[in-house]
Amino acid sequence: MGFGERSGVTFVPPSYASAKRRGKQSTHVYDASVIPDHVRSFGVGRTYFIQTYGCQMNEHDTEVMQGLFEAMGYEATDDRAQADVIVFNTCAIREHAEDKVFGEIGHMRQLKRERPDVVLIVCGCMAQEEGVVQRLLTKHPHVDLIFGTHNIHRLPALLEEAYFAKEMVVEVWSKEGDIIEHMPIRRNDAHKAWVNIMYGCDKFCTYCIVPYTRGKERSRLPEDIVEEVRTLARQGVQEVTLLGQNVNAYGKDLVDHPSSFAELLRMLSFIGIPRIRFTTSHPKDFDDALIAVLARRGNLVEHIHLPVQSGSDDILKRMSRKYTRGQYLDLVAAIRRAIPDVVLTTDIIVGFPGETEEQFQDTLSLVRAVGFDSAFTFAYSPREGTPAASMEDHVPEQIKKDRLTRLNAVMTELSKKSNDQLLGSIVEVFVEGKSKIEGMLSGRTRTNKLVHFQAPEHCIGRMMHVRITEPMTWFLKGEIVHECA
Ligand code: SAH
Ligand code: SF4
Ligand code: F3S
Repeated sequence: MGFGERSGVTFVPPSYASAKRRGKQSTHVYDASVIPDHVRSFGVGRTYFIQTYGCQMNEHDTEVMQGLFEAMGYEATDDRAQADVIVFNTCAIREHAEDKVFGEIGHMRQLKRERPDVVLIVCGCMAQEEGVVQRLLTKHPHVDLIFGTHNIHRLPALLEEAYFAKEMVVEVWSKEGDIIEHMPIRRNDAHKAWVNIMYGCDKFCTYCIVPYTRGKERSRLPEDIVEEVRTLARQGVQEVTLLGQNVNAYGKDLVDHPSSFAELLRMLSFIGIPRIRFTTSHPKDFDDALIAVLARRGNLVEHIHLPVQSGSDDILKRMSRKYTRGQYLDLVAAIRRAIPDVVLTTDIIVGFPGETEEQFQDTLSLVRAVGFDSAFTFAYSPREGTPAASMEDHVPEQIKKDRLTRLNAVMTELSKKSNDQLLGSIVEVFVEGKSKIEGMLSGRTRTNKLVHFQAPEHCIGRMMHVRITEPMTWFLKGEIVHECA
């Protein structure tokens, strides 16, 4: 790919060839010098706005960028039109996600004409794609700075450079660097927190761009994670969600201190925080030790998000998921034996290249056999540079759409059935805030179901017991059993 030569400013474009390379264990760095002293008051009197797309990983990266901006003296604003720095933290998972971002970047052209001093930044997973950076350079020269998912800690230095450069500043490392601990962070929620336990993904499912955009699997050290969760508990956080693309692979890369996800959860289960969730588990590495630790419950909730992607052995093989339909069903049975009331949710792709009607029917029958409570369902979207994109027999868009509609109809039925079973039962709800339903509050059960109920506003941020009176398809309505203290 010919990006050409540039000089004078940082120009490091992405490369899939280096993104694919998997190296040795990463180094853990404990150094907050990512903010040079001379930029510590750089943002005083200036505001920033971050638009976040994609998964929880990106939302959490945004929290780190917020921390970095605020350490430079910037203030957050909700008014994009007035912000001095505008950031698009992007997602590359499907084409639709990218189209939305390109549309928004296009709209920024007018704003940059009116306010040329505004700094426009594109970061996140799209920035790791070769084709995207090329397109930004040629079609959207009003973008000031592009940096990748491995360059977040470089934000202060790159921002300084972007203020003075005449050309677009591009710094996208395709190979991950060190794991940097103790970065400043400004979290968006006082009661719930994301905690990264690992970065990257080595699974290379044939449809997926993430191993290229997020690099190789790198685990944080168990003691750093435990310390972060302990600190959050002291701050009154009620719920922690552990993040990783494939949390079950946690610790395998830590050559000097071998660890496992089950062991990490065991350590975290002793911390006085009411709820610990995690996302996402890959079925391949979900072992008996993990089932056993989850069966102890306590602060480990009985909800597992276990993406299956397809119910057809042939499709699973071509997706390179490395399990069969039978192995997935056996795993579900083992989990249910240990945790009978577990709630299972999943991700499914329809219309993978070559998927026949019969193979799609296999997905429908698996969904019914497991009885998922809910699912994120997607039409397959080809991602340039991934093996599936160059497979034969792409399924026509209309057929993908039709399969998605039929799958969603089954999911709606299953979700209502599972919610109906809760009628009359008393559930523990963590009260998150005001409900979209006028005059009510809303919260989540341990199994992550949304519940609306009437209660005084001072109950926000507390745990309450709620009796379910009206199960709906996508949420529950209930009444409180006790006033909160
Ligand atoms: N690491 C997680 C998933 C991250 S991506 C896991 O393996 O479970 C979230 C979901 O997006 C995937 O589970 C998959 O269902 C979907 N997805 C990924 N790539 C896709 C593509 N090219 N087209 C459609 N859906 C895709
Ligand atoms: Fe993508 Fe597969 Fe990795 Fe999940 S496990 S991020 S679907 S490659
Ligand atoms: Fe999207 Fe990147 Fe997450 S591609 S789903 S933001 S890891």
